Amino acid sequence: MGRLTAADIRARKGGEPLVALTAYDFLSARLAEEAGVELLLVGDSAAMVILGHEDTLPITMEEMLVFSRAVARGARRALIVGDMPFLSYQTGPGEAIRNAGRFLKEGGCQAVKIEGGEEVAEIVAAVVRAGIPVLGHIGLTPQRASALGGYRVQGRDLDSARKLMRDAEALVEAGIFALVLECVPAELARRLTERVPVPTIGIGAGPHTDGQILVFHDVVGLWPRFRPRFVRAYGNAADEILRAVRAYTQEVKMRRFPGPEESFGISQEVLEALKL
Ligand code: KIV
Repeated sequence: MGRLTAADIRARKGGEPLVALTAYDFLSARLAEEAGVELLLVGDSAAMVILGHEDTLPITMEEMLVFSRAVARGARRALIVGDMPFLSYQTGPGEAIRNAGRFLKEGGCQAVKIEGGEEVAEIVAAVVRAGIPVLGHIGLTPQRASALGGYRVQGRDLDSARKLMRDAEALVEAGIFALVLECVPAELARRLTERVPVPTIGIGAGPHTDGQILVFHDVVGLWPRFRPRFVRAYGNAADEILRAVRAYTQEVKMRRFPGPEESFGISQEVLEALKL
């Protein structure tokens, strides 16, 4: 089976739900793909879950490309989407095309994600015209969290619900192949999904979207800081890792590790000849 393309994802509108997940390295990509994930987003959430920053703003293009290349080495079938970091596209179409192109040329991605609605539609259109598939992202867009008044649900009042409708239409017009809806009321997400011709992929947007996306660390229970209400953890990897590393620590201190099975032998003859 070959790699899924942006056109394949686009064609899934209204069909079997799309499964998307973030990935940041070889291992998370390999495991996610083995589990059936169809779209891997090298999310700028790496700034927080991998690099330990407070928000997504500090991550650079160079850092994103390192993570993208690692994901590309781990996944053969999933569509790999590089998340354009803060200030890699907002400054204008030229820089946006150059940086989006780097995700394809140097990062092993097949598409990019751009946050924002009407205000970035021109830029999205330019990137699409350059032959680079774009995944849109509206609702709570973390790169603009401070302008949006914090990390809060979007589209609850009439003005902001109308703005989301306009955003979705502008992005469809610009040529996106799918649209992430983040932290949007479920009924509004349903209506947006019915209205746009491309698949919607929800995160905190209820069950009626064409697909779902979550952060890898949230799904496997590896993120100790904070769990948003819309996340469901399907494992407790942090506890399992802690248990294993604690056991290792204790066994080293008690000289129980390494044991005979983990040690290499040498012949008596050699030892005697050494005269140590
Ligand atoms: O960076 C990210 O993790 C995202 C989400 C949509 C999952 O943008």
